[in-house]
Amino acid sequence: MKLLGNMNVRNGQLYIGDFSMEYLREKYKTPLYIVDEEYFLDNCRIFTENFSSKKLSTEILYASKALLNIYMAKLVKKMNMSIDVVSGGELYTVLKAEFPKEKIYFHGNNKSIEELKYALDEKIGYIILDNHQEFLNLKMLLQNRDIKQKVLLRVNPGIEAHTHEYIKTTKNDSKFGESIYDKNTLKLIREIVSFEKLEFKGFHAHIGSQVFHEDSFLKEARLMMDFTKSVKENLNIEIPELNLGGGFGIYYTEEDAPFHIGGFLRKYISFIETYNEKNNIEIQKIMIEPGRSLVANSGSTLYTVGGVKNTYGGVNYIFVDGGMTDNIRPALYKAKYEACIPNKIEEKPNYVYTIAGKCCESGDILIKNIGLPKAQQGDLLLISSTGAYNYSMSSNYNRIEKPAMVFLSDEDRLAVRRQSFQDIIRDDVL
Ligand code: LLP
Repeated sequence: MKLLGNMNVRNGQLYIGDFSMEYLREKYKTPLYIVDEEYFLDNCRIFTENFSSKKLSTEILYASKALLNIYMAKLVKKMNMSIDVVSGGELYTVLKAEFPKEKIYFHGNNKSIEELKYALDEKIGYIILDNHQEFLNLKMLLQNRDIKQKVLLRVNPGIEAHTHEYIKTTKNDSKFGESIYDKNTLKLIREIVSFEKLEFKGFHAHIGSQVFHEDSFLKEARLMMDFTKSVKENLNIEIPELNLGGGFGIYYTEEDAPFHIGGFLRKYISFIETYNEKNNIEIQKIMIEPGRSLVANSGSTLYTVGGVKNTYGGVNYIFVDGGMTDNIRPALYKAKYEACIPNKIEEKPNYVYTIAGKCCESGDILIKNIGLPKAQQGDLLLISSTGAYNYSMSSNYNRIEKPAMVFLSDEDRLAVRRQSFQDIIRDDVL
């Protein structure tokens, strides 16, 4: 397993910063989500320092769907970044963290009337319109309000980014946004612009997630700037802002070859500055919306090994005390991860194991065929890079309690407590 962030080895044991995994197990039990807070903050700094420009104003919106709780929202606030939410629940969470309202962007392809009302009541910064029906809903809700709501329109530039089918978002038949090739999109923009209670700021696009090709992002930027220009000329309006979404690919295993994010961001911004200037596009503010690339590598999940089973069929299983309930990604996307046995970190990986969870489901496999030292009951097992879309997609399948989450910096801070059996029956009313 590659040591990431502040992971280090002392006396044959894995540490994150000054915390041994044994200490964390003692104190918080397993399974446990761990966030290397300093690593996360350093990563935020890489984004804010490199995605900056003397010619344009720049803004980084953390895509909170990757990992959100009140403490996370407070960290994002501390880094002076903005935040993207996609549901009433995410909005509620960031408001509880007293996130600056003007820096909240509300996404989603089917925001309910209640969610839109909530956003308007709270006077959040931006609503990102997805479609014509949503425009009509917002228009109706604004009739008797004396405000001007800033909006972006999500459009689809039809770029096929190479990633897993389920996390592709901009094929022409995608459910998100309106196509830039559809004539009705221009009509919709005209309607938005002519409704005086909306302040149309520009477009949003997001081409997919875990994308490794720099070119896909450059192509997206070019297409979106061309589109902005053509709409601007067609309707004779100012379009000052552009949000290019997230999706920057990261390292999970040696099969992944991510680009160097700092270098890429500098290249990206300078490409945008030049293209904007040369073609008189007149964009003034450019935004990106990273989720995974900000938080995935700083998260790990710590388990305890319950047993090892050598099957008749030849597969040797390590059973851990969590599984698809805390990490659905291997089952859902065939996602791959690295792992180690923290208490045997320096021992030779002479055994090949499949790591399985405790759910009643054969697909509850976290890692297939990984080389590890000989494992036994009571060992720790740590899976790295689980910071994005693990906790946020966790479930109570088999009525298993969700793990706690601890953030590590100078101290260890419990941000989310472990669920109890009471939590499991909390919503049962009869
Ligand atoms: N902006 C929009 C509009 C998005 O839909 C997404 C992700 C992002 C930003 C952030 O993308 P990121 O930088 O994290 O790649 N559950 C899947 C990922 C789904 C991503 C959905 N949208 C997974 O576990 O891989």
